[in-house]
Amino acid sequence: MQIVRAISRVEQALTTNWTSHDQEPISTTIGSLSTAITSHAFDRVRSELRIGSDIADAPALNDWLTGPRVTGALPGPRSADMLARQARRESNPRTYPRDLPIAIDEAAGCWVRDVDGNVFIDFLTGAGVLSLGHGHRELVQVAAEQLAKLSYGAEFPTPARDAFTEAQLSMLPAGMRDRMKIHFCGPTGKYAVDAAIRLCKTATGRDDIVAFQGGLHGSSYAPMAASGLVEEKSPVSNVVPGMHFFPFAHCSRCLLGLHPDTCSTSCATYVERSLKDARSGTPLPGAVIMEVVPGEDGVVPATVEFVRRTREVTRELGIPLVVDEVPTGCGRTGTWFAFEQYGIEPDVIVASLAMGGIGAPVAIIIYDSSLDVWHPERTPEPSAEDQLAFAAGTAAVNIIRRDHLLDNACLRGAQVARLLAPLEFNPWVREVRGRGLMWGVELADPVTGLPAGGLGRAVQAAALHRGLILECGGREDCVVRMLPPLNVTAQIVDIACRILVAVIEELSPLS
Ligand SMILES: Cc1ncc(COP(=O)(O)O)c(C=O)c1O
Repeated sequence: MQIVRAISRVEQALTTNWTSHDQEPISTTIGSLSTAITSHAFDRVRSELRIGSDIADAPALNDWLTGPRVTGALPGPRSADMLARQARRESNPRTYPRDLPIAIDEAAGCWVRDVDGNVFIDFLTGAGVLSLGHGHRELVQVAAEQLAKLSYGAEFPTPARDAFTEAQLSMLPAGMRDRMKIHFCGPTGKYAVDAAIRLCKTATGRDDIVAFQGGLHGSSYAPMAASGLVEEKSPVSNVVPGMHFFPFAHCSRCLLGLHPDTCSTSCATYVERSLKDARSGTPLPGAVIMEVVPGEDGVVPATVEFVRRTREVTRELGIPLVVDEVPTGCGRTGTWFAFEQYGIEPDVIVASLAMGGIGAPVAIIIYDSSLDVWHPERTPEPSAEDQLAFAAGTAAVNIIRRDHLLDNACLRGAQVARLLAPLEFNPWVREVRGRGLMWGVELADPVTGLPAGGLGRAVQAAALHRGLILECGGREDCVVRMLPPLNVTAQIVDIACRILVAVIEELSPLS
């Protein structure tokens, strides 16, 4: 405000007779402008210091937690060296380092420092793996203690495994706690998706699976077969037969070409009628698998009506409903699991990513005991477990409860919505949408309506140059996504959203 006032005084002086007695001399006005600018700079430094002190869990790193800071081109020279070595020696599939060309040196809370000394706000946080940010002090301590005590316990009960199971079941809605069981599947989400499919096929004796268009369930065979990604899976397509794809409730890009105001959730009608019609071409499936808020497809919360009606028809027909909560679980959308916001109870929940607290690998399915018909000795994955993940995952649950971080996710989410609201007036922004701390800005050509993937990537790159790490998703990467940790502060959300809005406004072509 001081700067604006001083500038307007300079303008006024220049357009009037500034030598008259009732006007202050222009030199005084210019002097007050420079004072205002200097004091603004100090304010900024002060506010940056405040941001730094908010990162209670990284005292040792506070010297560099003074706000995003990028000097020079990206990648910097050291990052460029490491990226080149990586490209020479590692396999082609490396998405993040291609889109975000930095080599990471260290990280704390929301902050990441690359090997060239650039400091970024990390709103990718390991693709949502680090729900309490990088290096949370209490989690690091718990993990270190567990490592010294016991790192691997095969399938034997251990205090860490026991506490983790208890913690996970305790986070379920009350009505589900006593009837659900946990199966430990392996290190990452795809193992849990695979286990869910095997479980449901075994329990129902039926082979076919219904999945939804646009969905992503992982890169191993069955999860990939259940994913909508035509191009990615084309080299290995049809390896798992019997997958059937139905349209998802993606209202802003409806595959049935309908408008939400007039369609009465026709995608749900399509699911109901197809599953009941003996001539639909889809046999009664062993499972219906869905994400209620598909993340990789660009943060697309399904409508409540769609999810509820899918639950009703699957229950009526005795089809297990699998809800894949890999990206949405552990509080990401403001409730422990996203399905809770839809008032449904699935038969199987798939979860991983943030479950291990500090990124320690663990994937689980939580399922209705009635499905537990697996032969005790003919089920794989006996070695799938990690005591570190159990210990850190349990501690994360306790911290999320103690620090009311689901509330923080909702509050900060509302703040994101407020700060991104001006984007609704940008013709290139088709939609800003999110739940809790999972947000996406969908960009589309205002004339053709086609996904503006090039703009999405350009926004991601420009934001990186301003010190903000973001993710892209959706069709052709036209959705710029943010996944801040659940303990993010208001100040950091404020800085990050302002960077994002500024970059989108600057890069959107004039139309
Ligand atoms: C909904 C969903 N399910 C499963 C997976 C697979 O998880 P992972 O790649 O960790 O095995 C992903 C990965 O992004 C996902 O988004």
